[in-house]
Amino acid sequence: MNINSNYLKLEESYLFSTVARKVNEYQENHPEAKVIRLGIGDVTKPLCPAVVEALVSASKEMGFAETFRGYGPEQGYDFLKEAIRNHYQSNNIVLDTDEIFVSDGAKSDLGNILDIFSEDNTVLIPNPVYPVYVDTNIMDGRKILYMDANEKCDFLPLPDYDIKADVIYLCSPNNPTGAVYDREQLAEWVRYAKHHNAVILFDAAYEAFIENEKYPKSIFEIEGAKDCAIEFCSLSKTAGFTGTRCGYTVVPKTLVYNEISLNKLWLRRQTTKFNGVSYIVQKGAAAIFSEEGQRQIKENIDYYKENARIISKTLTELGIWHIGGMESPYIWMKCPSNMDSWTYFDYLLENYNIVGTPGCGFGKNGEGYFRLTAFGSRENTIEAQKRMLNGKIEKA
Ligand code: MLT
Repeated sequence: MNINSNYLKLEESYLFSTVARKVNEYQENHPEAKVIRLGIGDVTKPLCPAVVEALVSASKEMGFAETFRGYGPEQGYDFLKEAIRNHYQSNNIVLDTDEIFVSDGAKSDLGNILDIFSEDNTVLIPNPVYPVYVDTNIMDGRKILYMDANEKCDFLPLPDYDIKADVIYLCSPNNPTGAVYDREQLAEWVRYAKHHNAVILFDAAYEAFIENEKYPKSIFEIEGAKDCAIEFCSLSKTAGFTGTRCGYTVVPKTLVYNEISLNKLWLRRQTTKFNGVSYIVQKGAAAIFSEEGQRQIKENIDYYKENARIISKTLTELGIWHIGGMESPYIWMKCPSNMDSWTYFDYLLENYNIVGTPGCGFGKNGEGYFRLTAFGSRENTIEAQKRMLNGKIEKA
């Protein structure tokens, strides 16, 4: 038996596991410390009432023979796919329900989608980037090209036609930088993908944070994108589903390469390797798209956006360069005093008891930068602001 030796090329541990280990070690050695976690993008607001009600009622249904459900359709129940289709429709995007695939979240689909692409493909990945795109391609042994995201391009790299790639990763609003592509910039990527007969894997996990119409919430707002893009969406950040798990992927039927439909391949892959998301969770997810659900999740998103504003204001007062936090829950800042990312991580943890994510964990262009999230509670965000502005931790 031989193992997949590509795994040996990975960093020993996943970025967020390393951060968690370091924070746990610190907390063990300093049990009195009130550590504020603004590291991993995990939400703190509970599920909204419309979702909870739907989860409870679906759980009850499972307890009666008449309404009990066993295996569901691998690609999701029609009631949820219809709700998602209508959601796109309200943004003037017309989809068929069989272009929508419900899953347990964007992270799984972003990794699993690679099953349908040859290992000979070259992938193009921005740097810095959500580490899942890189690691899943390393696991398969695919050739990776990086495009530089940096201050010069406002962390929004545009295509270089001399570079030929087959699979392109884009994430907007971006994780980790919070930068957001506008319509013309995304149109440029669609033109490039068509020119090279490439496919764009568009991560729209943070689309719910976009309010300014200048920025597309979906790649399918761009003409021609249905011929060259797959979109990954998650309810984790939209509706606090990080622990409940549900997302969806849109694979248009017009996506055809070498006369093969990617929609058909993905359906084949999912029906073989996936048994679908639980009925109960899908009922909860569908409630997000009701009028009440939309109003309730917006309250939570507004809450996080206010946190982002507080963090951004703090950094501005401290004279620290940063971007993001406007149409995004992430704030991307330059480490003060030219510290490298891990040095600043330790500095912030030890001196202020605040946890963030070192920018270098997202790639070499992230070195010297740092990511803070707006997903903390208001109380903790304000406390973090005080600590950073006062330059010390208030002792209780
Ligand atoms: C992050 O902090 O980047 C995200 O929470 C990770 C994820 O969504 O998997």
